[in-house]
Amino acid sequence: MAFPQTRLRRLRATRTLRGLVRETHLESADFVYPMFVAHGLDRREPIEAMPGVDRLSIDHAVAEAKEVAELGIPAVLLFGIPAAKDEEGSGAWDDEGIVQLATRAIKEAVPQTLVITDLCLCEYTSHGHCGVLRPDGSVDNDQTLELLSRTAVAQAHAGADIVAPSDMMDGRVGAIRQALDEEGLSDTPILAYSAKFASAFYGPFREAADSTPAFGDRRGYQMDPANGNEAEREARLDVEEGADIVMVKPALPYLDVIRRIKDQTGMPLAAYNVSGEYAMVKAAAAAGYLDERATVLETLTSIRRAGADIVITYHAKDAARWLQ
Ligand code: PBG
Repeated sequence: MAFPQTRLRRLRATRTLRGLVRETHLESADFVYPMFVAHGLDRREPIEAMPGVDRLSIDHAVAEAKEVAELGIPAVLLFGIPAAKDEEGSGAWDDEGIVQLATRAIKEAVPQTLVITDLCLCEYTSHGHCGVLRPDGSVDNDQTLELLSRTAVAQAHAGADIVAPSDMMDGRVGAIRQALDEEGLSDTPILAYSAKFASAFYGPFREAADSTPAFGDRRGYQMDPANGNEAEREARLDVEEGADIVMVKPALPYLDVIRRIKDQTGMPLAAYNVSGEYAMVKAAAAAGYLDERATVLETLTSIRRAGADIVITYHAKDAARWLQ
């Protein structure tokens, strides 16, 4: 018999049939939209390498949060651009700090939207590293934990629904959990950036957040892109310390890591489709090399198929419109 008896193509014949057997679904309910908030009024500053994403003053951020909610996107992730920076990054835990102010304003205007706050010091430190420095210029892990804990408490008191530590210090999830619990904030979940790789794909973000390290790089605390076993260890430790959701970041170059961590932990998993991944698609689409809509939907579907429950992406608003 020359012809195959099994015909997989039978199930591809019509759009309806393809829909019936589809394994992975992409919906606006899976997305988190990241936003950059800054002080001032009526400010909207474009970010060069991220067309369509701007730094927003709080009034614009509130308007954008409303738009996001109307598109069926359940959550925003806030990054702050402080007015001033210092050695310790004190703007991170200031009750009047930019993220705390923006959180209060968004929760008041759009209470049903989940506000997730990025929890790190690099946007607030004058040197741009994610923790406090020792005299020799290296990051002091344990001293940083204290400042991160303070920041988590300030964010949760301002109304953050979820705090998301992205610093990669050892022991931070446990320290933050304990600090929140001691303040009566035991219902605030932690979304841990568990496997965060030292990646070239953060370039546009660092321009946006003005957080490029003044010297050195982040390889002393972020992960080596070569390591998958270590990513599993990072995620396992975060879960033991009390993480409620784990994250892999970036997404596309690490789809295998998403799958491994999902299988290994069984935890709710978020993948961060980062600034450089967004910039690549936008640049290729602007040049006419790629069809933006098809590329974005395929990309986001692949991240879900790899095992992500939640996709954090700058494409969220466009994708939500295309999926309507
Ligand atoms: C830092 C942080 C980074 C991103 C989110 N939080 C970058 C970095 O480590 O420099 C990157 C996000 C993106 O590229 O979209 N705490």
